[in-house]
Amino acid sequence: MKHLSIISLISFFAMISLQADEAAKWQGYVTQYTKLSAKYQKALGTAQVRLKKSKAQLAKNPSSAKWQGYVKKYSSLTKKYQKALSTAQTRLNKAKAKLASVSGGNTGGGKPVNTNLSAEELAMLKDIKTQKSLKLDHTKVLTVNKCADCHKREVQVWKKTPHSLTFKDLHKRKRAKQIQKNLGMSGSIKRNDLCYNCHYTRDEVRGKPKVISGVSCESCHGASQDWVEIHNDKTIPRAQRIPKAMAKGMNNTDDVYLIAQNCYQCHSIPNENLVNVGGHKAGSDAFEIVRWSQGMVRHNFVRGNNTANFKSTPERLRVMFVAGAMLDLEYSLRGIALATKKGRYFDSMMKRSNVAFKRLMAVNKKSGGVSEIQELLTLFKGLNFNNKKDLAQAADFITIKARKFTKNHDGSKLSSLDGVLPPEKSYKWKPTPRK
Ligand code: HEC
Ligand code: HEC
Ligand code: HEC
Ligand code: HEC
Repeated sequence: MKHLSIISLISFFAMISLQADEAAKWQGYVTQYTKLSAKYQKALGTAQVRLKKSKAQLAKNPSSAKWQGYVKKYSSLTKKYQKALSTAQTRLNKAKAKLASVSGGNTGGGKPVNTNLSAEELAMLKDIKTQKSLKLDHTKVLTVNKCADCHKREVQVWKKTPHSLTFKDLHKRKRAKQIQKNLGMSGSIKRNDLCYNCHYTRDEVRGKPKVISGVSCESCHGASQDWVEIHNDKTIPRAQRIPKAMAKGMNNTDDVYLIAQNCYQCHSIPNENLVNVGGHKAGSDAFEIVRWSQGMVRHNFVRGNNTANFKSTPERLRVMFVAGAMLDLEYSLRGIALATKKGRYFDSMMKRSNVAFKRLMAVNKKSGGVSEIQELLTLFKGLNFNNKKDLAQAADFITIKARKFTKNHDGSKLSSLDGVLPPEKSYKWKPTPRK
């Protein structure tokens, strides 16, 4: 069993904490007063030794003006350093207490979070990673036309969303051109391999990959060549058919984690250069899976017997909401781990992780305590943000916990969360106008 050490015990001085600015300030004071205390402690020791020596010399030569002078000098210095030391120590203690309070009681020296993963969990992680990649295998893309054979209403809905519309207008937008220019790139945006993984779908056309649509069915549900014949084959019981389709690359909607993590891969931008140099947005502002999936994007016609666009049940939305908050934390940690310098990208990812953390705290409080969430909260508080390896491992740990959460909960016991779920009127119903 591999131990994933999340907390570095010596992270004390390096820790950037929950409220990054506040914590950084108090961390600065802790460092400053620790140094000062050490300095005065040393000076005090020297003064005391010299005072003792001078006193001994004076005892031997009671009338020596020289030794009288030294005794006077070193007793005054001793007093001065005692006072300075005491002040520095008082301030050090105050700063430590402040730091502990702003960083959630954890200053890096706390009990390490148990991040042991079982063999089963490690296998799970491996399995998830193979399904994770955003990159669609263009040789296995069948395009929206294929889905339209049976999912016409879904296609109609999709056509009105920015996922589809981006195909027609992204390359014409000023902003897009500016981003390319900032990056020192030229040529067609549709052929820019930095852009097409997130904005487009490619298919194999006459032996070559070609962009054929925006973010398509398969961007979210997986390139379909190997699973499309399986997923609707009613001669096989659903309980066998769906896992089979998933093994062939389908992001099935039964698996809330899988379908949600897709969104976060694109909507948190895992590319520092694209943001800092290109000027691309550092991810969607306040992306939240329920709000963003249940408005204009929703296309639940299978559940609606092919006639109505079914609203997901409150039970499902609760699970989605929690999984989304976990994913937000996961992807912001992955983003921080990718950052190589201070800047807009790093700042956005730090901010995002704080927001996700606070949302999880609120969810946890409301729900009366969900063990998977609690584990993440403890993990986050003890995290050393300066250690990239720790951050990446923490993100993997969250993957597992979020995955387990979606498997262990059907939402029926989470009704206490309804108060924190986004209301329908806050859903994304309309595309944001773009320049
Ligand atoms: C030949 C018809 C057909 C085609 C083509 C087809 N589907 Fe389906 N799809 C179905 C049927 C029928 C169901 C409902 C299956 C069930 O009830 O178990 C379904 C269900 C789904 C589901 C819901 C998940 C589930 O299992 O409940 C998704 C997602 C999906 N299809 C995506 C796609 C995508 C993406 C494409 C295009 C690449 C596509 N389908 C092409 C017939 C089709
Ligand atoms: C990791 C995924 C990802 C990559 C890579 C990516 N984008 Fe985006 N882009 C997005 C998402 C998600 C949005 C929507 C952001 C929002 O919610 O406002 C977006 C929005 C945009 C917008 C509109 C937002 C605005 O600021 O006006 C432009 C323009 C844009 N992208 C251009 C590009 C170009 C050009 C490239 C390639 C050089 C690129 N993007 C690469 C994911 C990506
Ligand atoms: C942006 C990502 C995304 C895109 C693009 C997308 N889907 Fe989905 N799809 C989802 C999500 C998320 C759900 C589950 C929503 C829910 O549970 O409320 C879903 C659900 C479904 C379902 C199951 C609906 C039900 O009633 O259970 C089908 C079928 C489906 N999608 C087909 C398609 C087809 C066909 C397209 C292309 C026209 C498409 N999807 C495009 C994300 C996407
Ligand atoms: C393959 C990348 C990709 C995936 C996966 C993806 N999106 Fe998007 N999404 C985009 C891009 C790119 C845009 C912006 C398109 C533009 O404006 O040019 C966008 C825009 C949106 C918008 C419109 C936002 C606005 O302000 O107009 C919504 C809502 C949205 N996505 C929801 C989702 C949800 C929910 C999921 C997951 C179920 C998801 N997306 C998955 C790339 C993606």
